Amino acid sequence: MTELIELMKNRRTIRKYRPEQISEEELQLILEAGQYAPSAGGAQSTKIVALQNRTLSEKLGKINVGLMKRREGAHVSDEQPSIIDDPSIPSGFYGAPTVCVIFSKTESSYSIADSFCTAENMILEAYSLNVSSAIIGRAEMTFDNDLGRELMKEWEIPENYTARCFVILGYLDGPYPSMKPRKENRIRIIR
Ligand SMILES: Cc1cc2nc3c(=O)[nH]c(=O)nc-3n(C[C@H](O)[C@H](O)[C@H](O)COP(=O)(O)O)c2cc1C
Repeated sequence: MTELIELMKNRRTIRKYRPEQISEEELQLILEAGQYAPSAGGAQSTKIVALQNRTLSEKLGKINVGLMKRREGAHVSDEQPSIIDDPSIPSGFYGAPTVCVIFSKTESSYSIADSFCTAENMILEAYSLNVSSAIIGRAEMTFDNDLGRELMKEWEIPENYTARCFVILGYLDGPYPSMKPRKENRIRIIR
């Protein structure tokens, strides 16, 4: 078994995907991992919608990419360019065949934290299965429009829920990106 620390160190955000869909078994395990994330007060209030409909995910991905605020001089990755690095990328979901939307109760103080804990569990499980992934932001704004509200209704997401983030999934197209060195001076142990 691969050590968890090795998985954590080697997992990379992937933005270049092959078109083929991940297997049903892989999807189920990744969704299960999300459900076992810690949640504030043990509330387990996050809901995950796994979207495997390319037309729909392209529509949402287009909305998502349009919401990116570009900062002068910002740079994310040469090996796996993000929409910040390459403004010609048409979708904030990079063509990934599965786009999971993580919703959480709007009024909960830990709504965002719970959602990203769910996302982290999912990307680690994905990596352990050789499925590539990325966490994607701007979910609130991506769903704050007629299409978003219509989809939430159709997916039976209660009105008091808000989309908090996305986890995109698929198989890597091209070489695996290299390890990123850690910045110094981020840890202190006080005894
Ligand atoms: C809260 C959060 C939001 C993120 N949003 C995006 C995003 O919208 N688009 C994107 O391409 N990557 C996004 N990422 C992925 C980061 O860019 C990525 O984790 C970072 O560049 C480090 O790369 P690594 O995951 O390969 O170590 C997000 C990551 C986090 C934790």
